[in-house]
Amino acid sequence: MNICIVGTGYVGLVVGACLAETGNQVIGADVDEKKIEGLKNAILPIYEPGLDRLVERNQAAGRLVFTTDVGKAVSTADVVFIAVGTPPDEDGSADLRHVLSVAETVGRTMGRELVIVTKSTVPVGTAAKVAACVSKHAKFPFHVVSNPEFLKEGAAVDDFMKPDRVVLGAESDHARSVMAELYAPFVRTGKPIIFMDIASAEMTKYAANAMLATRISFMNDIANLCERTGANVDMVRRGIGSDERIGPAFLFPGPGYGGSCFPKDVKALVKTARDCGHDLRILEAVEAVNDDQKHRLFAKLSDLLGSSLRGARVAVWGLAFKPNTDDMREAPALTLIDALLAAGASVVAHDPVAMTEAKHRLPTAVEFAESGYDALNGADALVVVTDWNEYRHPDFARIKQTLKRPVVVDGRNLYSVDKMRAMGFTYASIGRGASA
Ligand SMILES: NC(=O)c1ccc[n+]([C@@H]2O[C@H](COP(=O)([O-])OP(=O)(O)OC[C@H]3O[C@@H](n4cnc5c(N)ncnc54)[C@H](O)[C@@H]3O)[C@@H](O)[C@H]2O)c1
Repeated sequence: MNICIVGTGYVGLVVGACLAETGNQVIGADVDEKKIEGLKNAILPIYEPGLDRLVERNQAAGRLVFTTDVGKAVSTADVVFIAVGTPPDEDGSADLRHVLSVAETVGRTMGRELVIVTKSTVPVGTAAKVAACVSKHAKFPFHVVSNPEFLKEGAAVDDFMKPDRVVLGAESDHARSVMAELYAPFVRTGKPIIFMDIASAEMTKYAANAMLATRISFMNDIANLCERTGANVDMVRRGIGSDERIGPAFLFPGPGYGGSCFPKDVKALVKTARDCGHDLRILEAVEAVNDDQKHRLFAKLSDLLGSSLRGARVAVWGLAFKPNTDDMREAPALTLIDALLAAGASVVAHDPVAMTEAKHRLPTAVEFAESGYDALNGADALVVVTDWNEYRHPDFARIKQTLKRPVVVDGRNLYSVDKMRAMGFTYASIGRGASA
């Protein structure tokens, strides 16, 4: 099939590369000239495991090309995916400007009967707005489909190649059969393609992210209570996660959720609800708990260093909002570093892949270290923010020897409380009894 993907960010690039991998002819179109220039030379704008090889292979085979000419890319397509950003507007609602501007372009430039797929995360009712924009100009029949994307950054290629399920909101037989054909290679193991009406598909994406964000805030709230009661949240997590009705995923306490999706999607769903005269009280609490949680690491470090935080040098391990990505959107490290600088501390940070991205986002006062250990030179304390593999089992003797004071705040509960104490660290973690 001839596919056009509009927007070659995290989602568009992964979707385009994976659809090319199964033999489709794919054009990735984006208005960002620098991004497209880089992609033409196989330089990826993001770090995502396995994506570079996939892009390179399919480019070399001539199945994947990139352009800034969105209209031309649309004109030869049988299916167009809209995968542009939907950032939060000032009131928290999803800003649909990019989506609807692409829809106008699609209407103007389509060259044949077309299936138009909204891949971006968009509120209920957006497909109808897309259809209205397209129909102003359309000279051919078209079918709007809602196909929310559930990939996780850091495992995006695998998630797209082997999805748990594919959700498709479609209202014509033509759209259903085209989409079923397109996705058939990805569901050969029997994972379901779930067809539904468009509004339900749009809502499914928000409900999924809202549920996952809820689990995280719930566990962070429980962790904070564990600290006051002497319980250990790691034990509680295992105790409840082994219940099949609950399951083990998304129960790890930490410094709060971040990234490009959970914060904005929770906000957008709360706003959608308000617009309908319904308060989503659970999600309002989820957001409030998360906002507080993002300040916990700073509070813990303040407790340990006290007034000596002013003038202290603090090493930060991990900047990306989670491992295996360089995405720093809404990352908890940003909140921590802002607070440290405001308190008069200096910061030296390390991240295995996000430092280039971080340099654009953090104040120039922040120093960057070549390695995690280099960051410790002359530092008064270490705060672990992102659970990259290389931070999971470090050389503790070296850490203790290099830090000026053996103070460690572990925002991901990577280390054993008993061992850290036995080695002489002043150690704080999340929700592990009074010792946290
Ligand atoms: N990142 C994720 O993990 C993820 C997962 C599932 C769903 N989503 C959703 O997918 C959508 C895209 O997210 P993303 O993270 O890929 O965003 P992104 O910011 O990485 O990429 C969006 C791209 O769209 C391009 N763009 C904007 N306007 C355009 C236009 N008019 N024409 C052509 N290109 C245009 C931008 O230049 C950018 O390259 C969002 O709605 C997001 O909520 C994201």
